[in-house]
This record gives sequence, C-alpha cells and structure tokens, in this order.
Amino acid sequence: MQAGVSHPVSDVTIRPATAADAAAGASVYIAAEEALATSRRARPRWPSDAAREAERADAEADLAALARHPSDLALVALRDGAVRGVGGIVVRERHAHITYLFVQPDWQGQGIGRALLNHLAAHAAGCDLLSLHASPDPRALTRYLTLGLRPMPPTVRMASAAPRFPALNLHDQLESQPLHADDAAMLATVSDIDRGVRGIRRLDDLRSWLAADATGALLLQRGTSIPVGYYVIDPGGHQAGMGATASIGPVAAMDVDRLPDVLARALHAAGEISGEETSWRLDFPAENHAAVAPLLAAGFRPQRLISYLATGTIGRWDRYIFHDDDLL
Ligand SMILES: CC(C)(COP(=O)(O)OP(=O)(O)OC[C@H]1O[C@@H](n2cnc3c(N)ncnc32)[C@H](O)[C@@H]1OP(=O)(O)O)[C@@H](O)C(=O)NCCC(=O)NCCS
Repeated sequence: MQAGVSHPVSDVTIRPATAADAAAGASVYIAAEEALATSRRARPRWPSDAAREAERADAEADLAALARHPSDLALVALRDGAVRGVGGIVVRERHAHITYLFVQPDWQGQGIGRALLNHLAAHAAGCDLLSLHASPDPRALTRYLTLGLRPMPPTVRMASAAPRFPALNLHDQLESQPLHADDAAMLATVSDIDRGVRGIRRLDDLRSWLAADATGALLLQRGTSIPVGYYVIDPGGHQAGMGATASIGPVAAMDVDRLPDVLARALHAAGEISGEETSWRLDFPAENHAAVAPLLAAGFRPQRLISYLATGTIGRWDRYIFHDDDLL
C-alpha cells in the first residue's frame, strides 16, 4: 500500500500508521469503545480509570507493534489534519485477522469505517482467510457482512482469579521438553504442530513470546517421542494498581483425544508460576469442546462469548487454545 493514499470519501486520507500515531489511535479506540457501551446502556466499558489507562497503554503498544511488523498493518484515517479512525490487521501466512477498526464517536456514520475496512481488506488480498472478532455495534456488523465475512462459532473467554491447578498426572504417557527461543529444531517441531492445528506457522511469534517472559513445553509421546502437542504460558505484566493477568495459550494437540492431557500439563505448569495476585485468562474457539470440562474443574468460569466472523475455516480448532484474541 502507498503512504498517503486518498480515499473517495471526501477529505479523508487513509495512510499506514507510524509509531508516532499510536497514541492518537489508542485514544480513538478508547473513545469509540466507551461511546459504544454508553449507547447500548451497558456497564462502563472499563471498571476504573486505572483499567482504562492500562488498556490505552496496551492499545498504544499494540498499534506501534502492528506498524513495525513486516506483514501486519496499522492504519489511521485523517480528516481536518487529525486522526479520526484507526485500523489494524495481523497477517500470518494465508490468514489475515483484523484487530482494530474504530472511528472517533463524532465522526462515525460518515464512511470512515468503510474506507478503513476497504484498505485493511486490500492488505489481506493475498490471503485465503479473513477474520475478526466483532463488536455488537450494528454498523460494524453491517460493514463486515457486506465485505463477505460470515458469523462463525464464537471465541470463548474463560478466566479465574484463583484457579485450582491440577497435580501432575504421571500416567499421561507424556514427556515434556521445555521450549527455548534459540532451539531451532524444537521450534520447527512446534511450528509443524501449528501448521496442522492452528492452520499456519508463526515461528517469529513463538520466538518473541519465549524471548520475553513466556515459558512452555513440547510434549512427546513417552517411548516413541512422537509429538503430541505443545503449550505456552505468558505470566503477563503487573500494571499499576492491578495484579498481573497471566494467560495460557497457545495450547495445541495433534489428536483431539489428547487435548485434555496437553491442557492438564499447561494448567499444572501455570500453577507452578502463579503468584497470589495473578489472575488467569484463556481464549479458545467454541469448536474446542474438550477444553471446557477441565477448565471448569480448575475453577475457570466463562466471562463471555466473543463474536467471530470469517470468510472460511482454517486449521483444526477443536484441539486448539489461542494465544489471545488478536494473534489467535
Ligand atoms: C463500527 C465503526 C468502525 C464503523 O465506522 P463508521 O465510520 O461509523 O461506519 P460507516 O459510516 O463507514 O458505515 C456504517 C454503516 O452502518 C450502517 N448503519 C448505520 N446505522 C445502523 C444501524 N443502526 N444498524 C445497522 N446498520 C447501520 C450505515 O448505513 C453504513 O452502512 P452503508 O455504508 O452500507 O450504508 C464505527 O461506527 C465505530 O467505531 N463503532 C464503535 C466501535 C466498534 O464497534 N468498532 C468495531 C470493532 S469490531
């Protein structure tokens, strides 16, 4: 895409965001989310000022990362010289996933969302699959259905402030090898699992999670050393005034029957690093029925179902837990 491409919507310029646009983009996101909650007479979008500011900082970091990434894209829509809209898309091999589409409340309903979405879709033109998590805003749904996206099984978010992590099951016939960012052979095996289960490879994501604070393991069948699955655990960062929110995922099993064993290993490992103030979160596809009972048993409770729209399916998501709702 060319920088500074003008769109037919009068006076609107859509261009790739730079790191310098990230703060303005995050503010558009916060304002649009808060206005949507107000218009739906819903509870305040964030429970406290601290939570809203933490989300703003996360969004700013997200948008800056999208702008830096070689295959991803962040966009801003400018009108009268200021940022009025923001868009973002993650591309991994043949799968493109839209992660941001927000227009400043005063500027909504004037075609800015359409212009942003058209540019995001153009960026995804080489992909087989386009997807996103949709807000309940009927204007957003109008845009998405018009673009050809269709409702799919939702994403399930489950969380717990005090999980009951299971003891290690010594009879699961699994051999666990800790993941290391610099172990190319091991990451190649994990990447093969991703190819079959997630539907795409994402070696760079794996490396960057592990190079930060995440831990994980490749699980092999004891005796044969055939790969059974893998998991990653991200301890999350402490934010001012709040404890850490840690996450479990990706979790992937080659065979759906083995997902409970792989998940049990992940839950056990999470228990090993969980602090008193740590709360835990997982996002997984609704197709993954096998994850529900073990998570309920560990004290996780559903927080919400998140609408997922896509142009098709990819991978084998009945045996998969996402890293998060953006990178999937
Ligand atoms: C969703 C959003 C990005 C769309 O951007 P926008 O600039 O307001 O949208 P546009 O003006 O381009 O398009 C709005 C469409 O909704 C339609 N629309 C308006 N009111 C509607 C309603 N009550 N029900 C259904 N559709 C409606 C419009 O007719 C228009 O469709 P058309 O162009 O086919 O006629 C923006 O409204 C927003 O930020 N909403 C709050 C945050 C949000 O939900 N973001 C999506 C995250 S997944």
